[in-house]
Amino acid sequence: MSEDLTSKQTNPKEIRLTDYRSPEYTTETVDLTFDIKDGNTEVRSKLHVKRCLDGVSELLLNGQDLELLSVVVDGRALSGNEYTVDSETLLIPELGAEHDIEIVTVIKPEENTALEGLYKSSQMYCTQCEAEGFRKITYYQDRPDVLARFTTTIIADTERYPTLLSNGNRMRSETRVDGRSAVTWQDPFPKPSYLFALVAGDLEMIEDTFTTMTGRSVTLQIFSEAHNIGQCDYAMDVLKRSMRWDEERFGREYDLDIFMIVAVEDFNMGAMENKGLNIFNTSCVLATPDTATDAAYQRVEAVVAHEYFHNWSGNRVTCRDWFQLSLKEGFTVFRDAEFSSDMNSRAVKRIEDVGFLRTIQFAEDGGPLAHPVRPSSYLEISNFYTTTIYEKGAEVVRMYDTLLGTQKFRAGTDLYFDRFDGSAVTTDDFADVMSEVGDKDLTQFKRWYDQAGTPLVKLVERYEDGELSLDIVQSCASSPKQDAKAPYHMPLLIGVLAPDGAPLSFYDLAVDSSEEVRSSADGDSLLIELRNEQASLNLSSFEAKPVVSFLRDFSAPIRVDYARPDDELAFLVEHDVNGFVRWDALQSLWVAYFSGASELDLAQLIGKLGEQATSNEDAEQLQLIAMMLNVPEMSYLFEALGEFEVDTLLRQRDAVIGTIALENVDIWAALYEQYFADGAFQPDAKGMAQRGLKNAAFAYHVRNLRGSELVSTVQRHYQGADNLTDRRAALKAALTEPDFPVEARTDLLTDFYDKWRNEALVVDLWFNLQAQSPVLTLDEIKALEEHPAFDMKNPNRARALFSVFGMLNHSRFHAIDGSGYKYLADAIARLDALNPQIAARLSAPLTLWRRYDPVRQERMRDALSTLTTADSMSKDLYEVVTKALDN
Ligand code: BES
Ligand code: ZN
Repeated sequence: MSEDLTSKQTNPKEIRLTDYRSPEYTTETVDLTFDIKDGNTEVRSKLHVKRCLDGVSELLLNGQDLELLSVVVDGRALSGNEYTVDSETLLIPELGAEHDIEIVTVIKPEENTALEGLYKSSQMYCTQCEAEGFRKITYYQDRPDVLARFTTTIIADTERYPTLLSNGNRMRSETRVDGRSAVTWQDPFPKPSYLFALVAGDLEMIEDTFTTMTGRSVTLQIFSEAHNIGQCDYAMDVLKRSMRWDEERFGREYDLDIFMIVAVEDFNMGAMENKGLNIFNTSCVLATPDTATDAAYQRVEAVVAHEYFHNWSGNRVTCRDWFQLSLKEGFTVFRDAEFSSDMNSRAVKRIEDVGFLRTIQFAEDGGPLAHPVRPSSYLEISNFYTTTIYEKGAEVVRMYDTLLGTQKFRAGTDLYFDRFDGSAVTTDDFADVMSEVGDKDLTQFKRWYDQAGTPLVKLVERYEDGELSLDIVQSCASSPKQDAKAPYHMPLLIGVLAPDGAPLSFYDLAVDSSEEVRSSADGDSLLIELRNEQASLNLSSFEAKPVVSFLRDFSAPIRVDYARPDDELAFLVEHDVNGFVRWDALQSLWVAYFSGASELDLAQLIGKLGEQATSNEDAEQLQLIAMMLNVPEMSYLFEALGEFEVDTLLRQRDAVIGTIALENVDIWAALYEQYFADGAFQPDAKGMAQRGLKNAAFAYHVRNLRGSELVSTVQRHYQGADNLTDRRAALKAALTEPDFPVEARTDLLTDFYDKWRNEALVVDLWFNLQAQSPVLTLDEIKALEEHPAFDMKNPNRARALFSVFGMLNHSRFHAIDGSGYKYLADAIARLDALNPQIAARLSAPLTLWRRYDPVRQERMRDALSTLTTADSMSKDLYEVVTKALDN
């Protein structure tokens, strides 16, 4: 570990968007040679640099934790006084228009626990360069607006590292007499350094081919360590589907002759889109029925597609600077969400995404770390890979699609890819293209990029004599450094239903609005372009009072305040044609229930839904129902309820689950038996729907059981399972039901661990389920760290314990004595010394202190404060903790 990472950062420098300057020199080509030896790797870098601005003469290169051996300019070695080097830069003054520069550095990948730059994971070397990891490999213009052609030669011991990979095409390889091999790769596409990748290891590989829309054949390879290679086939299938889909949906063809994915066990993020050589966390690529839950399968599908899609939205067209991060991430999340929607159920995907947005992004947007989709400053860019940049950014892209319509939106993306191919651009460039093809003024719309916070739209409805009127008012609360917000331009999609549940057509209604409106081609929905703070919509010629279906498909990322009678919401749950609105109406009922504002018998409603599932055949409908059977998670409620007390809410939620179970006892038993033997595992919509129903019914069913009946039912579920989703449900029941006997629980956990101890991702789940268990004491959870399989240095393992504890174990984390907060803070401090990115991310639950009661607020702030008293703190953690305490 270098001094730099751990030295206390008292006053890190703020980077501002307004300080952006285009580079004075650019690097046109870079020729890298990595000489990998135990303990240190020598990196020789030959740059061809060219001046792009008149008059300047200094070349500024970034570098961090590097040992510099030599600097040679046009064949002449510089002496130490001919350049300036400090802990972050190398400055070469007095240069001319064009030069060849050769720099030799030495790095220590074996000691790199931050997992940024070149590091070692198990026995293999790999890299992670986004956002600013390349500077930990060599001195370089490590900024996304410098695009160079890379040639990479890797030299390593032949026996231990037979697989040597980098970006682009394999040009040469030789086996040397000294037992070492050298392989050279060349990437024909100019790229920023953050897309550089290198892998050296002893890897197995599966191979396939893909024929592109123009008939070119592309070799597809997935690499992993030998013990994981049997779990890569699903990812290969996803990759081929993604490639075809991007051709059909966005007209995007792959551009190299080879596309490689490498699975590594130690990885900070999910995966990385390096040109032609994606590197993946094993958790986002491996999937078999025994080692991946349905959620994990879906994650693999989304991530493989996402990283592949970056080849156009990110690599061919990249970001000018890191403030533009959402340009590639928001857009690519939108693209992968569309892919998943087309592969599975659109409504189900939308509901999952909105649930996540409301739970995590709304919390961020309303908390001390709130920032706009295009931030204006940061201390550490790694902290800005946030749900606001990603998920809210994707919502912004979705709104262009909604505002412009599918055809124009596609014309917009075509123009964007065409116009900016090979360049580094901004979110303004994207907006301008959409404005151009849509022939639409998007000046106001661009506020979505500049203003933080979640807008609130308040509706007041009146009905009289066949006329329905809606008064619409928008507002947005202040955020850190942003007091006043200007109104947003947002698409609001609505529908209306007759009292018998039949959808009404807008063609049969008179529509009058203060805003621009247009109805869909089929007349079933109306799009309102809200621009003003206040607006109105009047609909007339109804025969009876209709029911409004508001914000269909969640057409804008907003909160809605629309006081409605329970029976209208229940009516929407049952009748709306929009799957999202059906689910949303039910969530509104739940929020009303927990805030004491609803009289409705929700247990009965849920029972009715359960009953419907016994006779329905449609996979999409069944998946929808399965989602609606579950009571909203605590963290969803934290965000949705203005006021709550954690323990009271936990008790209320637990009690209503008990009531739902008890009042529909026969329904759960029947539904459970119906789906218990659901045939061989399939990771498709039907299979997922069946397992979703089976496990929802199982959870209610076991709630009604006691003693040996409870134990035997859970054991039967566990023993009968042919997949991890079902096994997980059984373990979860054993770790949730307070009456489940300790001995039987221990037996189950031991059995599971012994069977799967060699599958790291399954062992992660074993830690995960215990970390979130309300029936384990804090001491029992703490003891998990002593388990031989626990490894603080492995991000997946650390997250399985600490992140899950902070985000999902509400009773233990929020213990009123503050012990849960202290435990997490202590873990964060220890992790910070090893891996600052992970430490900073783990602190998210503590930053949301303002949501809780005064006593908890105090204890959470105390926990955050203890972090600031540590001897050393990374820049990453410093930024998160200071902002959380300041705002
Ligand atoms: N470019 C990112 C990976 C990344 C992020 C690397 C931050 C370094 C720092 C990649 O495309 C990505 O966004 N991955 C996501 C998954 C995706 C499906 C949203 C991830 O890693 O979680
Ligand atoms: Zn991405």
